[in-house]
Amino acid sequence: MNEQMNNIRNIKDIYNRNARWYDFLVKPIEFFLLRKKRRKLVVPLSGKILEIGVGTGANLAYYRNDISFIGVDASPEMLKIAQRKAERHGISADFREMDAENLEFPDGYFDAVVSTLTLCTVPHPVQAVREMARVCKGGGRLLFLEHGKSCIGLVARLQEGKSGKHFQKHGCRLLSDPLNIIASAGLHIKISKRFFLGIFQQIEATASHTHI
Ligand SMILES: C[S@@+](CC[C@H](N)C(=O)[O-])C[C@H]1O[C@@H](n2cnc3c(N)ncnc32)[C@H](O)[C@@H]1O
Repeated sequence: MNEQMNNIRNIKDIYNRNARWYDFLVKPIEFFLLRKKRRKLVVPLSGKILEIGVGTGANLAYYRNDISFIGVDASPEMLKIAQRKAERHGISADFREMDAENLEFPDGYFDAVVSTLTLCTVPHPVQAVREMARVCKGGGRLLFLEHGKSCIGLVARLQEGKSGKHFQKHGCRLLSDPLNIIASAGLHIKISKRFFLGIFQQIEATASHTHI
């Protein structure tokens, strides 16, 4: 499989297969790198929230529990784990198997739309970001916590060496360029910060349309 051959069926198979181990495998990176960033990203959010590629629901521990939450993912096995987490955290949540590139929600439906570590696996990420913007209301928030090719040359070269195998195993593009993806979808970047060797990025964007 190469990057051109990625599709929703591969993604579904890979994440269904890996769901049982996913949280265990990412535990160190979650603990040392991501949990504080996740909290900072989602704590301020209120109202109707959508997460694309919600996976096992890594952000659910940090949302306020008066939100109305919908999480979509290609993998029903990942969603089952997210469902259990939402119950544990007392969040009113609805999980649906759905392609992020073709969201089954009306325009301007959500107060905020979130993607964390997801654009690297979505087969056509620009289309997914366009969909995020479409279903977010005017003045709503489009938030991202993503990883991609480092801005540090040596780190980027190490990533280049690992990207083929990593993609085969996880359907994940180490050399992804989230800022470029978001800009190519026609969004305006409001905030963008890199961390951990320039690999991870926290991004907030706004859509040019206005759905009231
Ligand atoms: C690396 S996991 C990240 C999960 C979670 N967002 C997190 O922060 O831990 C990527 C997730 O995106 C999902 N995904 C990839 N492409 C998708 C698509 N087109 N539609 C819906 N889900 C997708 C995968 O099934 C997987 O659960």
